[in-house]
Amino acid sequence: MSQAPARISGATRLVGIIGHPVAHSRSPAMHNAAFAELGMDWAYVPFSVTPEALPQAVKGLAALGLAGFNVTIPHKEAILPLLDHLTPEAAAIGAVNTVICQPDGTMLGHNTDGEGFSRALHETHRFLPRRSLAFVMGAGGSARAVCDQLAREGVQGIRISSRTLSKAVALAEHIASIHPGCDAKAVPWGPLEQRAAINWAELIVNTTPVGMKAGDPSPLDVNGISPGHIVVDLIYAPPLTPLLAQCQELRARCLNGMGMLLHQGAAAFTRWTGEDAPLETMRKTLAPGTKEPA
Ligand SMILES: NC(=O)c1ccc[n+]([C@@H]2O[C@H](COP(=O)([O-])OP(=O)(O)OC[C@H]3O[C@@H](n4cnc5c(N)ncnc54)[C@H](OP(=O)(O)O)[C@@H]3O)[C@@H](O)[C@H]2O)c1
Repeated sequence: MSQAPARISGATRLVGIIGHPVAHSRSPAMHNAAFAELGMDWAYVPFSVTPEALPQAVKGLAALGLAGFNVTIPHKEAILPLLDHLTPEAAAIGAVNTVICQPDGTMLGHNTDGEGFSRALHETHRFLPRRSLAFVMGAGGSARAVCDQLAREGVQGIRISSRTLSKAVALAEHIASIHPGCDAKAVPWGPLEQRAAINWAELIVNTTPVGMKAGDPSPLDVNGISPGHIVVDLIYAPPLTPLLAQCQELRARCLNGMGMLLHQGAAAFTRWTGEDAPLETMRKTLAPGTKEPA
């Protein structure tokens, strides 16, 4: 598999990722393979940055002339006040995963998670959210990106269920306030409420980490899931969570988080370089030899 360019020179453009920890990130392999595929003299470097060092690191990356960088845990929200501008998506989500260092020296914060989610859904299932009804489990950072994107694309209604009800209520109120055409409401985290939401919605999205660890249950009682449902689990490791395995049995259309991971990266790549991302090359670096549930 192609990695970094063989030579880095004074002409090489740099991008990267800041996080803590960052060693596990799949983004360097994905982006460096893309640069190699397109014959671009660019390189993507991971930087482990502690929360205390974040302000210095952000200034330093701009001063060093990076074209931009990705931002991951725990800096996605903390970086907001350190940037000059935010895109409407980043402002709505309240988190940044991609920074663009602009020619005038300012830094623009953007968030490609929602776009990545939407592109993956469309690529795999030709699904367009317009006028549909969605049930979202979880109310954290990725739920904010998913709900904002769905509302942006004209979803008719969203029901949000979270273990901590107040967080679901806050997210539903936020979405309804910035997207007045979207009927967004919170529902309690209970089997009866979940069953009602399954019957109501066509798109079901798990944004909780339940299913990542061996032995985790499904976050949802899948009774009521039918072939008419599209079920998305944002988890990509393992590729087949208990939720997706059970929903596949019931012949629902399923999707794991690998496509979202790919497309959020591809969207960042295009923002930095102005080039279309080589999707198949990037996809191979993420899951060599594994098959997505689709
Ligand atoms: N595919 C991708 O590109 C992509 C992108 C982003 C995230 N993700 C995945 O999405 C998941 C969530 O990420 P995030 O950034 O949104 O995390 P987050 O901000 O920490 O939010 C997690 C949400 O899940 C809930 N939750 C956690 N443990 C739970 C449990 N045992 N039972 C029920 N609910 C539980 C939390 O509820 P409380 O508030 O009550 O704790 C919260 O609502 C992770 O698995 C992550 O890997 C994937």
